[in-house]
Amino acid sequence: MNIKDEQAMLAAGAQLALQLKPGMLIFLVGDLGAGKTTFVRGVLRGLGHTESVKSPTYNLVEPYDINNQPVFHFDLYRLMDSEELEYMGMRDYLNDEAICFIEWPDKGEGLLPEPDMQVQILIKGTQRELLVTTL
Ligand SMILES: Nc1ncnc2c1ncn2[C@@H]1O[C@H](COP(=O)(O)OP(=O)(O)OP(=O)(O)O)[C@@H](O)[C@H]1O
Ligand SMILES: [Mg+2]
Repeated sequence: MNIKDEQAMLAAGAQLALQLKPGMLIFLVGDLGAGKTTFVRGVLRGLGHTESVKSPTYNLVEPYDINNQPVFHFDLYRLMDSEELEYMGMRDYLNDEAICFIEWPDKGEGLLPEPDMQVQILIKGTQRELLVTTL
């Protein structure tokens, strides 16, 4: 699907929010600046989150509670090793209730379960190509 600008990416995220169920794990794949965080921002707004959405780049995870639905947004770009993933208690986040989004899941390769969905974003100049795969 072609995404012409940031607004369209937010709208695509809000659209995906309609398909989410508790416990789902979603991987976000794409280069730096592709729009992964922008997409998650759209999802969170679609779920009813009205406050700001920070990129979890420095603290690896941002937690949300949206009308009693726990949502965790991870960015593993700066993950140093598997021990750090253990240390942050990754296993506890991935439960039957929480919806988890993970940017840069390849950094946690071998340590993360298989996702329910993969969102892939390709940069095409100022536009983006969005591919959502349900696994
Ligand atoms: N068509 C588009 N869709 C989404 N974002 C776009 C588009 N065109 C331009 N942008 C811009 O690209 C940037 C995407 O940034 P964003 O933080 O969402 O990327 P990211 O994939 O999360 O990067 P990182 O890997 O660094 O976390 C934003 O500044 C946004 O305004
Ligand atoms: Mg990001």
